[in-house]
Amino acid sequence: MKRVITYGTFDMLHYGHINLLRRAKEQGDYLIVALSTDEFNWREKQKKCYFSYEKRKMLLEAIRYVDLVIPEESWEQKKSDIHEYHVDTFVIGDDWKGKFDFLKEEGAEVVYLERTPEISTTQIKHDLNGK
Ligand code: CTP
Repeated sequence: MKRVITYGTFDMLHYGHINLLRRAKEQGDYLIVALSTDEFNWREKQKKCYFSYEKRKMLLEAIRYVDLVIPEESWEQKKSDIHEYHVDTFVIGDDWKGKFDFLKEEGAEVVYLERTPEISTTQIKHDLNGK
């Protein structure tokens, strides 16, 4: 069984996220989503989530492409996750292109998927604010 992992915040889930998750799952048989905790988001990205970790997790678990949701609590955990969860392929959107190539040294394939154009959580918040 080929195991795939991806990372992200997935706040206010939208079709760009679904596209990413569908294509991530197509890379293998079992998809793990490492979901940024509220604390990690605030500490490392200065971003306040609209939906709490538990709610974002519940939404992801309802998606047919997602097999397991684990917390993302640090930047460093990617290396250990690869070994702990026997990951074959690391997948992320191409806004991160080249940033995680070092994970190849841990034995994982690294795949950057094209982002879906014109949609993001930030964009939704911005558009709604302007109304
Ligand atoms: N993603 C994507 N296409 C989009 C938006 C996101 O493929 N239009 C991907 C990202 O590249 C990442 C994953 O979905 O691999 C989770 O991204 P996240 O940062 O949580 O979503 P964004 O909508 O980009 O959120 P923000 O605007 O807060 O950065």
